[in-house]
Amino acid sequence: MAPVTKAVVPAAGLGTRFLPATKAMPKEMLPVVDKPAIQYVVEEAVAAGLTDVLMITGRNKNALENHFDRVGELESTLERKGDSDKLEKVNYSTGLADVHYLRQGDPKGLGHAVLRAKMHVGHEPFAVLLGDDLIDHRDVLLTRMLDVQQQRSTTIVALLEVDPSVAHLYGIATVEPTDEEDVVRITGLVEKPAPGTAPSNLAIIGRYVLRPEIFDILERTEPGKGGEIQLTDALQEMADGPDWAGGVHGVVFRGRRYDTGDRADYIKAVVQLAVEREDLGPELRPWLREFAAGLGDGDGDPDPS
Ligand code: UTP
Repeated sequence: MAPVTKAVVPAAGLGTRFLPATKAMPKEMLPVVDKPAIQYVVEEAVAAGLTDVLMITGRNKNALENHFDRVGELESTLERKGDSDKLEKVNYSTGLADVHYLRQGDPKGLGHAVLRAKMHVGHEPFAVLLGDDLIDHRDVLLTRMLDVQQQRSTTIVALLEVDPSVAHLYGIATVEPTDEEDVVRITGLVEKPAPGTAPSNLAIIGRYVLRPEIFDILERTEPGKGGEIQLTDALQEMADGPDWAGGVHGVVFRGRRYDTGDRADYIKAVVQLAVEREDLGPELRPWLREFAAGLGDGDGDPDPS
C-alpha cells in the first residue's frame, strides 16, 4: 500500500454550539491562546509528514483561506516597524503546507465532507483530521496511526477512553485485542448511542487514516443520526465485512486531547495551554490559583477567610 501523503481537514460544520461567535466565522478559526484551532491541526499534519492538505470548507471559508495566505499590508507594516518576531508568526502559517480548498456545498454531515475529497485523494490511503479536535503536540498520535496503517494496510481510527457518562456524545467502538498493546480490532461502531447503552467506553476522536474504499461506501451511505451522512456509519460497514480491505483497527490514544468544538472544553483547552506557556504561564499561574481559591467549595460564593 502506498505511503500516506495527503491530509483532509473537514471544516465545514455549522458550529452551532458556538453561536453567535460562529455566525460569520468557522469555529476552526476560534483562537486557542493566540493561534486559530485550525493552525494546530495543520501543524500536526505537517509534523507527521503530510504537507498536502485539503480543507473542506463551508459558508465562511474566507477566514480560513486568508489565514494560510499572505497578508501584504500586515507584512509590510511589521517590516517597516522592524517587528521581526510578529512578522515571523504571520509568515509561519503562510508557508506551512500546500493547502487546497474545496467547498462542501450543503453541510450534510462529516461523511459527506470526507466524500468531497474523493477526486483530490484518488486511490491512496489518506489521513482525516477534524479541525476542532486538538492533539497536544507533545503526544504522538497521527504518526503512530500512519505506522499502524502501513503495517496492517487497513483503515485506522483513533480511540480514547472516555467516562461512561459522556459516551453518548461520541461514536463508540466494540473491540478485540491484537498482539500490540495500543492497537485493537474494531468489531462494531455506533454513533452517539443512547445514554447508558454504549457498548464500551472507547470513543472515536477526530483522527483517521482511511483506505480509499471508504468513498465507495460513503457514496451509498444514507443519512443517519441527526439526518447527517455519518462517517461512523461507513466505518461500521467497513468493520463489519472482512471483504473491506481487512476491516478497521483502532489506535488507543492515552495523551492530551482538546475538543475545541464544545464551549466548556474549549475554555479548558485555552487555560491549560496558556498556563503551560513560557510567555504567559508565569503571570497566569498565580492568578489562576487565587481565582480558584476564591471559588471556594463550588457553590459560587467565595470561602469566608
Ligand atoms: P460537529 O459534529 O462538531 O458539527 O462536526 P458542527 O456542525 O461542526 O458543530 P455543532 O455541533 O453545530 O456545534 C465534526 C467535524 O466535522 C466537520 C466539522 O467542521 C467538524 O470538524 N463537518 C461536520 C463538516 O465539515 N461538514 C459537515 O457537514 C458536518
